[in-house]
Amino acid sequence: MRLLLTTSQGIEDLARAELEGLLSSIGVPFRVEGKPLGVEGRVLAEVGEAFYTDEKGRKRELSVSTYLNERSRLLHRVIVEIASERFEGIGEEEPERALKKIEEFVSGLPVERYVKTSESFAVRSFRKGEHKITSIDISKTVGKAIFERLERFGTPRVNLDHPAVIFRAELIGEVFFLGIDTTGDSSLHKRPWRVYDHPAHLKASIANALIELAKPDGGSFIDPFCGSGTIPIELALRGYGGRIIGLEKYRKHLRGAEMNALSAGVLERIEFILGDATRLSEYVESVDFAVSNLPYGLKIGRKSAIPRLYMDFFSELAKVLEKRGVFITTEKRAIEKAIEENGFDIKHHRLIGHGGLMVHTYVIE
Ligand SMILES: C[S@@+](CC[C@H](N)C(=O)[O-])C[C@H]1O[C@@H](n2cnc3c(N)ncnc32)[C@H](O)[C@@H]1O
Repeated sequence: MRLLLTTSQGIEDLARAELEGLLSSIGVPFRVEGKPLGVEGRVLAEVGEAFYTDEKGRKRELSVSTYLNERSRLLHRVIVEIASERFEGIGEEEPERALKKIEEFVSGLPVERYVKTSESFAVRSFRKGEHKITSIDISKTVGKAIFERLERFGTPRVNLDHPAVIFRAELIGEVFFLGIDTTGDSSLHKRPWRVYDHPAHLKASIANALIELAKPDGGSFIDPFCGSGTIPIELALRGYGGRIIGLEKYRKHLRGAEMNALSAGVLERIEFILGDATRLSEYVESVDFAVSNLPYGLKIGRKSAIPRLYMDFFSELAKVLEKRGVFITTEKRAIEKAIEENGFDIKHHRLIGHGGLMVHTYVIE
């Protein structure tokens, strides 16, 4: 079986490492490929069969996709591949011809293996690149081809709102892909614990990527701009044994973070402090790891305030940080100046896709 796993752009390597760890832990044979066909934010895994022994000692097959949906912290979707194909020149083709090609291809696929006639289905599409067709065109065409094929086996049922089976059709550049989306309509990065929705919250998958980059070893950990608590909550959910602190200037967000932590079942694991990160040393004497997504210009109104805020924060951080910091922001100039002028070294830099932007991420020591 081939699985297409999706995640944020720029963290494919970390998602791949997590995936390899999860697959190894269940003893399933596998082969993993990062960015298949050069597509960003994707990992492909070819996996064999996995088994477990039930309470009566019987050998049972383990669903690898269910296991990944339940365990992964970095993936967004787990999709079982039905087929993929490169359609040369599809970007320039007139809509009718392009859709005809897709329809003919899908009609020849054994989709009846993936949906029982008693089950309802829907097609969700994703398109990226230059094409004369839209994702709605793709959904309709693929839906029609699947429907007509299933008619040979019974009376197919379409349910666009609450389908039992979700087919996922993707056209990325010239590559067409059809699979079964085992994750469902809500991406895995939308955590069920989120009861307070901060306007600038970080995706939980990216929060975990930042934690991976920080490599906390059990020492004390702070998110000095914790907002709704995504980073400390995700760290606590990983079973982290060390001290975890979340600092936030605004009471409303701090209360929200506490509500989220309560809903995640980790409230007692996190010390939430109402305070100003530019006076960090007043709240903590020393801390081993600091990980945060910093306030961005556009999101806090006055953009001119950012360089000052970053400078003041990093000068405080220099007084307390013992090991490593990981920060993500759109404000490249302001952060680099603040990092360097306060005596930190940039150990690693990468761009991560977040909220439609590629955001700068720094590991500093
Ligand atoms: C980009 S948001 C962080 C979002 C958070 N990672 C989450 O997932 O919800 C930045 C946060 O920094 C807070 N903030 C702004 N200035 C601050 C300061 N001087 N000290 C502490 N927090 C501050 C804002 O209120 C906002 O909640």
